[in-house]
Amino acid sequence: MRLILIGPPGVGKGTQAQRLAEHLGIPQVATGDMLRVHVRDKTDLGKQAQSYMNKGQLVPDDVILAMAEARLREPDAAGGFILDGFPRTVPQGVGLGVILKRLDVTLDAIVAITVKQDVILTRLVARRSCVQCGAVYNLVVKPPKTMGVCDACGGAELIQREDDRPETIRKRFAVYQEQTFPLLAYYRPTGLLREVAGGGTVDEIFNNIVAALPGKPDQD
Ligand code: AP5
Repeated sequence: MRLILIGPPGVGKGTQAQRLAEHLGIPQVATGDMLRVHVRDKTDLGKQAQSYMNKGQLVPDDVILAMAEARLREPDAAGGFILDGFPRTVPQGVGLGVILKRLDVTLDAIVAITVKQDVILTRLVARRSCVQCGAVYNLVVKPPKTMGVCDACGGAELIQREDDRPETIRKRFAVYQEQTFPLLAYYRPTGLLREVAGGGTVDEIFNNIVAALPGKPDQD
């Protein structure tokens, strides 16, 4: 199964991609997470990306496409993948098409998750992430078992993301409307687009996504 998850910042793409990855036995490929590892490790790519990310802007398409292609060529992605946060511009969508052709594979579904902005804002201000392993929490709906300590790796630094400040969140919403939303019109003619409501609990949204996926997962 080869899926794209599209949706505004904080709609729950990462949360659902992780659940789907476990359910389908295929990797989650999250460009935001990959970039944050580069920033944390102070690589050249990370230094280049950081200023865009902190301002809520998109990292240039050529950088993202090169990073995504390298990831999709890794052996664990041969049987399928869930793209989380990529593509997020029409040129990235076109570039992904070229990459998939080179890999001789096709997409099975594009899942667009939508929810009202005020719901997302409430979620994002309560989000905390582990500096060490990137695990994501929510102080309201998914707090760590011990406050301030990561359940997954035991790391003691759960932070608010730099780009989850209210003014940066507003910028990210604007960038989504302007640069990512047009991807829905780009993908609609393929017949693969599934629009899923992103309100409700994590389990409810997960069930709605699974119900929207095509037939039996093809693991080849
Ligand atoms: P990225 O990390 O992809 O950020 P994003 O798209 O803004 O999405 P988020 O990670 O903020 O949210 P999400 O939808 O994954 O929600 P989550 O599951 O965490 O990108 C960050 C930056 O990197 C970009 O701004 C850009 O600069 C750069 N970048 C990345 N990819 C790029 C690309 N392709 N091109 C160019 N630049 C790129 O959920 C949010 C919170 O809500 C969590 O606390 C969660 O626990 C909670 N939650 C989830 N579901 C529910 C629910 N149903 N009910 C209640 N709470 C919930």
